[in-house]
Amino acid sequence: MHLNRTHYCGLLTKEDVNKKVVLAGWVQGKRDHGGLIFLDLRDRSGIVQVVFDSQRNASFFSEAERLRAEYVIAVKGEVKHRSPDTVNLKLATGEIEIYAEELEVINPSQTPPFYIEDGIDTDENLRLKYRYLDLRRFEMQRALEIRHKVMMSARQYLDERGFWEIETPMLTRSTPEGARDFLVPSRTSPGNFFALPQSPQLFKQLLMVSGIDRYFQIARCFRDEDLRADRQPEFTQIDIEMSFCSSRDIMREIEGLVAYLFKRVLHKELKTPFAVLTYKEAMERFGSDKPDTRFGMEIVDISEIAGQSAFQVFKGIVEKGGVVKGLNARGCGHFSRKELDDLTRLVQSWGTGGMAWIVLTEDGFKTPLTKFFTSSQLLDIKEKLQGEPGDLLLFVADQWETALKVMGQLRLHLAGRLGLIPKDQDHFLWVIDFPLLSYDQEAKRYTANHHPFTAPLEEDTLMLDEEPLAVRSQAYDLVYNGVEVAGGSIRIHKKELQQKIFQLLNISTAEAEEKFGFFLTAFEYGVPPHGGIAFGLDRLIMLMSGKKSIRDVIPFPKTAGGTCLLTGAPAPVSPEQQKELHISTILRENKKEKMPGSKTLDS
Ligand code: AMO
Ligand code: AMP
Repeated sequence: MHLNRTHYCGLLTKEDVNKKVVLAGWVQGKRDHGGLIFLDLRDRSGIVQVVFDSQRNASFFSEAERLRAEYVIAVKGEVKHRSPDTVNLKLATGEIEIYAEELEVINPSQTPPFYIEDGIDTDENLRLKYRYLDLRRFEMQRALEIRHKVMMSARQYLDERGFWEIETPMLTRSTPEGARDFLVPSRTSPGNFFALPQSPQLFKQLLMVSGIDRYFQIARCFRDEDLRADRQPEFTQIDIEMSFCSSRDIMREIEGLVAYLFKRVLHKELKTPFAVLTYKEAMERFGSDKPDTRFGMEIVDISEIAGQSAFQVFKGIVEKGGVVKGLNARGCGHFSRKELDDLTRLVQSWGTGGMAWIVLTEDGFKTPLTKFFTSSQLLDIKEKLQGEPGDLLLFVADQWETALKVMGQLRLHLAGRLGLIPKDQDHFLWVIDFPLLSYDQEAKRYTANHHPFTAPLEEDTLMLDEEPLAVRSQAYDLVYNGVEVAGGSIRIHKKELQQKIFQLLNISTAEAEEKFGFFLTAFEYGVPPHGGIAFGLDRLIMLMSGKKSIRDVIPFPKTAGGTCLLTGAPAPVSPEQQKELHISTILRENKKEKMPGSKTLDS
């Protein structure tokens, strides 16, 4: 390159008029008006218009004529005001243009497989295959910039609050976060495997045993699980752990961090402390442990009235300990019979028997339930759901968790359909007091809802023997606009309690010793009370940058099929390499299309 860049394209303003500048970047587009060429030049900062004039630029005008999209060039020129009729206020640099004086063509380019501009409707697989081109688009660069700023600001905030950034191993043993492990065969220890960490959980707890007191890490985590828009096999956490603290202390630190990130990166003020809901309340009111509270439509319990009605479906379920839950779809009384049938089928597909409905009219009630409910029961229901003429009341009867989860899904479905979710609000809230354990019907055993190191609520520990499912944990999740962005807990720091939890989880002493022996040994040497939390950084940034998928805020993500379309990973390895690693692979014929190395084009 002969010309030395002096300025960024997008940062030039009227203040720079009459300056000589050297710019470098990619050709965004070109309009050829015979003797005059207008060229848009792009770099990371934005776009500026460069003018080539055949009269004044005779020596290199033909070269300018040959420029095409995505050529890399450098231009020397003078900044000029645009004539009033050509001012483009949509462009940050729309009041000026550069009169070219020298041109250096640095590199040509093939025609790119898609337009390099925001809002393109291009197949995501094509974008992923040519990710370096996709990342030339401003909306992608903006997401990467937000990502960078969030990481820098988090480091700064946590450093100021006395947290030390400490790295933990990538090649390690299995860490129990509930997903499958990615394994790495060992060359030097035949037949043995490292696991990539699902999180730094055990190491950060060991750092507390070491007296580090306050730790953080921007840590890559690996989980081999089914992927969705908000899940990747490889993702990043802002991982935090503190000693001698309560869950309140941790929640306050995290609120400070989030408010700081919003102020520094988005220039927005967040109100702290955030709202707190218990798991039970979140489920009862919103049918979800990660409720979206940007809109109302809360769930209402009508089990008592329903249990006294003559409607056998409701009565039967209530008698068996179930519940009947309702919600008010305001103004939806006009739904046709077909729409109601479709909605019922949708609700059934979420795992419940059916859905009942009441349309409120000026004259009373329109519903298949009329003959089973007295008018005073119907009036009670209307009042409980604050119904008005024109409203549609919907009901599901089932066991507590199923009824509420289905209602929660119905609530989100309707809110989306009715456009009730405000796009420009940032709702953060904590969900606390989760049940410590669940019961896995298939495996016939208890499982930890968070992970096996989570402490039960002190006042509930006495119930561990008699009523383990009623025991609540000292776990907390941070929910942002209906997405779980962080989760953590106070940990168990007494060996006896940890052993008891392992017993409940049906992890034998021998198995615990085999899997976490190193960790349990540390419990013999003075463990401080401690707790922590981890942010899903990708999810946080997805929401902060208004994206719908974490793939849009990860520079080089995997497809939903878990493959990298850019590099073709995962890929086969040579027999020599396998031999060196003491492994061999058995490919089953009928699974061939799913085998590593094959490029499944799903997303
Ligand atoms: P947890 O498993 O809840 O907790 O993970 C913390 C946060 O990480 C994010 N997350 C993911 N993001 C993208 N893709 C994934 N596959 C994925 N899985 C999880 C979520 C989640 O809230 N060690 C504990 C934390 C602790 O107790 O301190 C842990 O990893 O946003
Ligand atoms: P059925 O007895 O299945 O013919 O259902 C009678 C009515 O009750 C229909 O309107 C169903 O949609 C409704 N219904 C059935 N099961 C449930 C349920 N679990 N919750 C709410 N309504 C239900």
